[in-house]
Amino acid sequence: MVSGMSQSHPRISKAVIPAAGLGTRFLPATKATPKEMLPVVDKPAIQYVVEEAVSAGLDDVLMVTGRNKRPLEDHFDRNYELESALQKKGDAGRLAKVQESSDLATMHYVRQGDPKGLGHAVLCAAPHVGHEPFAVLLGDDLIDPRDPLLQRMIDVQQQHGGSVIALMEVAPEQIHLYGSAAVEATADSDVVKIGGLVEKPAPEDAPSNYAIIGRYVLDPAVFDILRKTEPGRGGEIQLTDALQQLVADEKVGGPVHGVVFKGRRYDTGDRGDYLRAIVRLACEREDLGPDFRTWLHRYVTEEMQQR
Ligand code: G1P
Repeated sequence: MVSGMSQSHPRISKAVIPAAGLGTRFLPATKATPKEMLPVVDKPAIQYVVEEAVSAGLDDVLMVTGRNKRPLEDHFDRNYELESALQKKGDAGRLAKVQESSDLATMHYVRQGDPKGLGHAVLCAAPHVGHEPFAVLLGDDLIDPRDPLLQRMIDVQQQHGGSVIALMEVAPEQIHLYGSAAVEATADSDVVKIGGLVEKPAPEDAPSNYAIIGRYVLDPAVFDILRKTEPGRGGEIQLTDALQQLVADEKVGGPVHGVVFKGRRYDTGDRGDYLRAIVRLACEREDLGPDFRTWLHRYVTEEMQQR
């Protein structure tokens, strides 16, 4: 669709990143450190997510945090002591790395208070977001920067209005870990119209193997719905349940579409996937990759021989 069509929909400039979760899957590492700060190679996982928002043109970022999340605020702030120490040493390379995260975006923070679920976390963003469509990025999902998903979702939202969610096909035995969507094809092969949503269904109740992955572009009508959404699965206020309300009545906030993602995604909330993300990204790094790949190849060969 030509971009001229997009003029009638307000531009999207705000990203919301829920980051209040306890990170229990990574204990004891997350006892005193937010899970979002765990390094993926040499950058905290959360920085990849903020960079993704910025590269899709969203430079106003609201993080929904909670107790013990101060390191997140510090990471995206200046650190004058460290900066002047590096300046004195003439270490321009490391100085640039330190300054990169504080120069990335305009950061805002709000505290969730009670951990009442993802829907509740998104509702905490209502006063900041106001009446514009906005993006939500879940910190546990890391989307490879070479496979731009959010930009595509924003384009689809500008074309159709309403809301857009990211979907990925998963194995049937995996669908109970995700929100699942009933979908209809559209003229664009990577875009579907959403006919219904169920949060973490049993495989036999899942409408499809299309799983919601942690990227959303939402119409602000979702806030009013969230205010009325009762706790659902796990006793939590579920974003999926609120989106189902949008699907059920298009008059409220426009249609809901899905972008089917076929690129590289890592669930850094899962220990195995977290390790895979590190290995993969390290292999592809220009500075670390060549040595690391050589070592990895030797290591895997030795491992295979021993079996
Ligand atoms: C959340 C959503 C779920 C979605 C998932 C993607 O679940 O509730 O619909 O599929 O993120 O990562 P969580 O993984 O936070 O339990």
